[in-house]
Amino acid sequence: MLIAIEGIDFSGKTTQATLLHSEVKGELLKFPRRENTLIMNYLKGEKPFCEEASFFIFLADIIDGIKRAERRVESKNELVVCDRYVYSTVAYSKIDVNNAKEIVKLSPLPKADLVVLLDLEMEEYKKRIGEELDSYEKNLNFIEKVRENYLEMAKEKFFAKEWMVISSSKGVEEIHLEIKKKINSLSQSI
Ligand code: TMP
Repeated sequence: MLIAIEGIDFSGKTTQATLLHSEVKGELLKFPRRENTLIMNYLKGEKPFCEEASFFIFLADIIDGIKRAERRVESKNELVVCDRYVYSTVAYSKIDVNNAKEIVKLSPLPKADLVVLLDLEMEEYKKRIGEELDSYEKNLNFIEKVRENYLEMAKEKFFAKEWMVISSSKGVEEIHLEIKKKINSLSQSI
């Protein structure tokens, strides 16, 4: 099974993805992959490629990562937990969002069995942002647009069997229990 944990920066994705992975059999994938120096340099503000190309480079990173975990993704007894997946690629895309969605649909990637969107309101985002600014986080309007893109995808149930939206302002344990409950109900219906 493939579970994607999504949300804007500081929404608590890594905490939830790590917690979930620690309790289940399977694999944790974090996108973009840290070893992808091309993307890491881009996020540091270098310009190894243009913004339009970034969509395809992030997408290619995910395709390669998922291909390597293919057997587990297809297994019903194992969980591949993704800390960001193609929903990030669409939400943060510097190309037209509708085109981005069509390209994702045409890609060789599988749909997630469940997308957990940790929704962080902008006021709370500003409080959490602190000193840590990367090339996106400097731009509040952009992050607001990213959040809207996520909420729109959840409404459309874009490219996934299920979406669930949870407020990031809830406690870590409460969110974790909600996610586990949902996964248990999905596993029983497979
Ligand atoms: P992270 O720090 O949560 O791992 O993500 C790094 C940044 O990369 C984050 O600001 C979102 C961005 N990103 C994209 O723009 N497109 C993508 O496809 C992915 C996975 C991340």
